[in-house]
Order: sequence, then C-alpha cells, then structure tokens
Amino acid sequence: MPEPVIEVRDLRKVFAKTVAVDGISFSVQKGEILGFLGPNGAGKTTTIAMLLGLLTPTSGTISIFGKSMPKDRQHILQRVNFSSPYTNMPYGLPVMTNLKIFSRLYTIPNAAQKISALAETFGVAHLLKRRTMTLSSGETARVNLLKAFLNDPEILFLDEPTASLDPEAADTVRSLLLKLQKERGLTIFYTSHNMQEVERLSHRIIFLHRGKVIAEGTPESVRKQHGGSLEEFFIALARSETTPPAAHSGHEEAP
Ligand SMILES: Nc1ncnc2c1ncn2[C@@H]1O[C@H](COP(=O)(O)OP(=O)(O)O)[C@@H](O)[C@H]1O
Ligand SMILES: [Mg+2]
Repeated sequence: MPEPVIEVRDLRKVFAKTVAVDGISFSVQKGEILGFLGPNGAGKTTTIAMLLGLLTPTSGTISIFGKSMPKDRQHILQRVNFSSPYTNMPYGLPVMTNLKIFSRLYTIPNAAQKISALAETFGVAHLLKRRTMTLSSGETARVNLLKAFLNDPEILFLDEPTASLDPEAADTVRSLLLKLQKERGLTIFYTSHNMQEVERLSHRIIFLHRGKVIAEGTPESVRKQHGGSLEEFFIALARSETTPPAAHSGHEEAP
C-alpha cells in the first residue's frame, strides 16, 4: 500500500528576477529512493531548501508526514535530515566533537555511543579523534553521511551526495545508502548529475527543467519514453534553449 511521506502541490519560488521553481507537484512514497534530476539552475537545490523549511515558497503547499511545511517545521525537522558536500563542519575541531555538537541539536541520548555505532557502519571509527580538516574528501563524505543519520531520519535529503568523490568513494557511499535504505525502510530524496548512479540507485526519477517537471517515472520508463540513454536525454535537455526536448508530443524540430 503506497504511503506518501512527501506531497508537494503547485510549488513555486520566485527570486527577484528568476522563477527558480515554477509550479511543481509530486509525491514521494515511504521507502522510495527518488532521484531529483536536472541541469544546473533547474531548481533542485531551491526545492530541497523549501522542503527543509530553509526557504519560504512564493506559493504552493508542502506536506511531509501529513504535516505542513513551514508551519510544522519543528516536528518535521526532528524526523528528517540533510547532507550535502557543500556544507562543512568546523574544520579545526575533532570529528567526534563536531558530531557531538550536532547530536545536541537533536537532543540525542547517549550520543557518544550512538556516534561510535554509526562510525562502525560508515567505516570511520578510526577517524573520530582526527581534526576534521585532515580528512580526505571520501572520508569527509562518509562523516557527513554519518551526521545525517544521528537522529535516525525517516527521510534523508541528499544534494549531490557523491559530487566531490572519486569513483571508489562514490561507490562506497552508494552501497551504504542502498544498504541503509533496505535495513531501515528509509526514504531518500537526492540529486545527482551521474546518470549511471541514478540508474543504480533510484526507484523513480523526476526531471526538472527551468523550474518545471518535464519527465517522471522509473529510470527505465523515462529512458524508453525518450528513446535514448538517460545521459543523452540529460544532455539534450541542458542544451535546449527554450523548450525541453519533445517529451510527449513526438514533434520533430526543424534543423
Ligand atoms: N538566493 C537566490 N537568489 C536569487 N536567485 C537564486 C537564489 N538561489 C537560486 N537562485 C536561482 O534559481 C535558479 C535555480 O537554482 P538552483 O535551485 O540552485 O538550481 P540547481 O540546484 O538545480 O542547480 C537559478 O537560476 C539560480 O541562479
Ligand atoms: Mg543545486
């Protein structure tokens, strides 16, 4: 029985001159891994920021666990978490200290024990005493993911989780996410520019272009609908100046 944990209706965000998100609607089911895709500037990060209550929508509604964002922000934020390679912890402090500080934000009992257990899962137990600045990018990514699991989130928002990683580290992160999704029935809402990764991880994808949803479905169904690889679809999308590549009309553009 599908159980939506995220429901977004007619969501819109306008900055001074830019329509960043232009009236999008979608749902995400419990336990689903949803790939939120689109070229740079499509509106992905802006959407995530609204889902997390960091930005106020210009219009539209967001419901998470049946609660309304931003009205029930406190309740929702206790039950979700977020990770991005572009958010950093204070560099000078040891990893353990940083993680304890984050634990306090969520009032987690027995934080040290919890951190140690998660550190085993993420293969970073040997790094807890190191100063954060001394970690490699792969190590930092795993510590950032660990941080996102401190409050046992039911939904994890990940903005380009593997963007700064070498292929091996990225593969480790993907395997971890799949494992944790299976074990915990976790819902994962993530963005990525790596179409192979998307095919491997996503149960369903949503393609965003200039703030609008222009394709949605399983990776396979979107591929079939557009008659090429996801990578080709993505490139065509990014290069199209005004309209997205003919998704539903079958109309051929003149050369
Ligand atoms: N704080 C902001 N002020 C003005 N424009 C913004 C702001 N944040 C994002 N934008 C614009 O909104 C559009 C969508 O950006 P973003 O959501 O970051 O895209 P993506 O994450 O898909 O690359 C872009 O044109 C970007 O320049
Ligand atoms: Mg972004």
